[in-house]
Amino acid sequence: MKIFLDTAETDVVRKHFKTGLIDGLTTNPTLIRKSGRKHEDVYQEFKDIGLTDISMEVIGNAENMISEGKRLHKKFGKVATIKVPCTRDGLLACRELANNNIKVNVTLIFSVAQALLASKAGAAYVSPFVGRVDDNSFGGLCLVKDIADVYTKHILTTQVLAASLRNVRDAAKAFQYGANIVTMPPKVFEGMYNHILTDAGLKQFDIDYAESIAE
Ligand code: G3P
Repeated sequence: MKIFLDTAETDVVRKHFKTGLIDGLTTNPTLIRKSGRKHEDVYQEFKDIGLTDISMEVIGNAENMISEGKRLHKKFGKVATIKVPCTRDGLLACRELANNNIKVNVTLIFSVAQALLASKAGAAYVSPFVGRVDDNSFGGLCLVKDIADVYTKHILTTQVLAASLRNVRDAAKAFQYGANIVTMPPKVFEGMYNHILTDAGLKQFDIDYAESIAE
């Protein structure tokens, strides 16, 4: 059971990494663009923070993705997981990179069929986009469950990395539905600590503790 953060904000990641609860990191071109920084500067900073699994997205045709994936792997070493889209070119790149012992995260997964092809192409991870499935009136968590079930049934080693999570409930449920890894925005991770009854219980314990030592 692994928790990844889905962000390119290095300061926020630095803070959360110190908790010892973060196992890895995913980025995408949109998140990197929002950070206003260069891709490789962001990856380098994550590596320096101590992250050991960083998804780095590549684009273009199969040839571009393969050469870029190999280059990033050479530059960043084992911490680099190359992220490719679930397209024909993406899966060709996945096969070639996997044959070279490079971990691949196949992203933009919206069906069990895509997850099966990605696994056959040697993906270490598949990333079903829970929130975006929900946005289109299908069940994002059901997709996670269906993929996890079929992988279990056929003893496939590809791990289900649930992505595009927008709230704490779905993040926790994704594990319940069989995800091996859940990547989430830092805000969702922060929300995982919270429960209104914990706050209420603690408030009373604090009062009673203070009273008991005053008595
Ligand atoms: O990193 C991919 C994914 O988590 C994107 O999430 O919220 O843009 O659908 P979102």
